[in-house]
Amino acid sequence: MSASSTNSPPLRLAGRRIVLGVTGGIAAYKAAELARRLKEMGAEIQVVMTEGAQQFVAPRTFQALSGRSVRTTLWDEAAEAAMGHIELARWADAVVVAPASADFLARLVQGRADDLLTTLCLASAGPVFVAPAMNQKMWAHKATRENLAVLKKRGVRQLGPGSGDQACGEVGPGRMFEPLAIRDALVAHFSHGPLSNVNVVVTAGPTREPLDPVRVFTNRSSGKMGFAVAGALAGLGGTVTLIAGPTTQATPRGVHRVDVETAADMLKASRVAARTADIFVGAAAVADYRPKKTASAKIKKKAPVLSVLMERTPDILLAVRQRHPKLFLVGFAAETEKLEYHARQKLASKKLDLIAANLVGHGRAFDRDENTLRVYWTRGGRALGTASKTDLARRLATLIAGRYRKKS
Ligand code: PMT
Repeated sequence: MSASSTNSPPLRLAGRRIVLGVTGGIAAYKAAELARRLKEMGAEIQVVMTEGAQQFVAPRTFQALSGRSVRTTLWDEAAEAAMGHIELARWADAVVVAPASADFLARLVQGRADDLLTTLCLASAGPVFVAPAMNQKMWAHKATRENLAVLKKRGVRQLGPGSGDQACGEVGPGRMFEPLAIRDALVAHFSHGPLSNVNVVVTAGPTREPLDPVRVFTNRSSGKMGFAVAGALAGLGGTVTLIAGPTTQATPRGVHRVDVETAADMLKASRVAARTADIFVGAAAVADYRPKKTASAKIKKKAPVLSVLMERTPDILLAVRQRHPKLFLVGFAAETEKLEYHARQKLASKKLDLIAANLVGHGRAFDRDENTLRVYWTRGGRALGTASKTDLARRLATLIAGRYRKKS
């Protein structure tokens, strides 16, 4: 199990893939700090250095900070075989060039594709950010001004520059924006929406409770509903941590995922994540019972009948509520009958703000692509209808965001 620690900054860039382009300039050393800042917020970064950049900082520095080999050329056969430059352009959610030298900006204006970084900027479908850094006279030059105007018209986003003392001894505009300012601009770019700056935890999928080293008790949950909810909440700008039981679902974009196996693992990860959470959504089908004892060796099939003594698992939502009375807590209810009655019982007993209820069994809800949801709160409720889990998750996320805002 892996989980974020309480002291780390919120993972507002979790799952975001960023190409960090570094061009030739003394400010290249600041790009190392930027790489660190992006990583600590959960971003995946691929550093691409121009030849000029390598005159100022060694690729090894960025390799250590980013955890990936640095790309420096279009003509590296091994790197291209692993991920070609067009694939890399598709992979990136954003390209950030920091520092962007005057020469690089001019080459971007010309639409050059004679090195890896310019090629990526041309091939990228996502946004391109440039953080210019140069001597103040170069910055003030008409050529640079015109180049920036052209790039702006084409949709390239400009971050800075700042003004102040320059490495060349002059004073004026042309200093690269500070790494934290660039990082914050990226966070803002990725987290617009009603849940921006809101930390969300979602549990999803089944849990698996071991009987012996080869056998487990589990249930039919595929994780589809919970994963869709996590993706929808991230789509509203939330910083989402998804605590997932065993499932084959792909992690939604922009979501930080923590994989767990048992109810006890899920409780542990939930406790850690809840410490910094504003909203907690329990969509997981957590096992209610587990074998009281887990055999250390495979149980041999000797007896015609096998009795297994089961014990209750801890209730995750209840534990989270007890520790965090003010947290906006959302549960799910999976029922085979008397949907509203049982859902309202759970709403009250677990002290939830909201519960999403679905009928299950007989081919309903579990492992299906569509579902029917009703949502209840203390003095109200709403039918979200029958739709794909992706659509229902969007409706539910919008409702959660609205009621969370009303409460906070
Ligand atoms: O994963 P899919 O195949 O897409 O299916 C979706 C789903 C049917 C699993 C989902 O929509 C759903 O209903 N999830 C909750 C399933 C469930 O365990 O419901 P419950 O009524 O047994 O539990 C009530 C609530 O308590 C749930 O929020 C559950 O996460 C939570 N719980 C349950 C047991 C436990 N030990 N700790 C808990 O926190």
